[in-house]
Amino acid sequence: MDFIKVTSSYEEHIALIELNRPKELNALNLQLMQELADSLETLNQDENVRVIILTGNEKAFAAGADIKQMAEKSAIDMLRIDQLTLWNRIRNNGKPLIAAVSGFALGGGCELAMICDMIIASETAKFGQPEIRIGVMPGGGGTQRLTRAVGKARAMEMVLTGKFISADEALSYGLVNRVVPVEMYLYEAVSLAKDIASMSPIAARLAREAVNRSFETHLDEGLQFERKNYYLTYASGDQKEGMRAFLEKRKPDFKGE
Ligand code: CAA
Repeated sequence: MDFIKVTSSYEEHIALIELNRPKELNALNLQLMQELADSLETLNQDENVRVIILTGNEKAFAAGADIKQMAEKSAIDMLRIDQLTLWNRIRNNGKPLIAAVSGFALGGGCELAMICDMIIASETAKFGQPEIRIGVMPGGGGTQRLTRAVGKARAMEMVLTGKFISADEALSYGLVNRVVPVEMYLYEAVSLAKDIASMSPIAARLAREAVNRSFETHLDEGLQFERKNYYLTYASGDQKEGMRAFLEKRKPDFKGE
């Protein structure tokens, strides 16, 4: 891997993926996106991994798609490259994914953070969809995910002016889970990941799928999806362990079975 670093046992049951193109502020070139999609698929197959954290560095989570790589492309080149397939591979990751964001999360970088299930931001984080300033528009899900996350008025202003918002604004918009001092953002993401990793990974996976489904379907269909996943948790040993542990007044030991 040239542009990302993967630590599959960063903490027990927690994997860490670091975007690693610091000189270019982690601009998302095609190779980086491929490496990211490949590593998420590998971590998905690793039974030991229950939660994945995606991060950049203090200065940048990612400053967007790589403008140098795209500047002279034609529409047909873009169609052939078909980045959407890569975005879908990243999106189809089946495990809880937490973005730990410091510095710039712009354009594709903001879209990548929004693909994650939760965002922990450092107080220096800046979010934005500035594509309009370079004559294009968001192409990695920004118009859809940002609008669902922050509402039409705020999304429209961000997409049409390209203005960045601060971590505190992102918090008040509901885009991020919390804002912490810069020296704490990874620690805070790990702490959240540990909480989730101590739960049944089967229940976490099914619950996560059901929450995500709420963005993609009508209420009735979503409720049916939720119910089926809920019943499916009863096929796991973790369900027996969780409920028995409660009744026996002890801490559950979830095995992911
Ligand atoms: N693509 C390629 N290179 C980038 C980049 C990007 N998105 N963002 C930054 N870089 C490079 C710069 O070209 C510069 O490289 P050189 O040293 O070789 O000149 C290096 O990273 C450092 O950047 P700056 O000198 O510009 O740093 P700064 O602190 O002055 O400014 C910034 C930081 C405000 C983030 C500024 O770099 C910037 O505006 N970047 C572009 C942001 C942007 O427009 N993102 C959207 C891209 S399009 C997209 O993402 C499409 C999509 O929806 C999928």
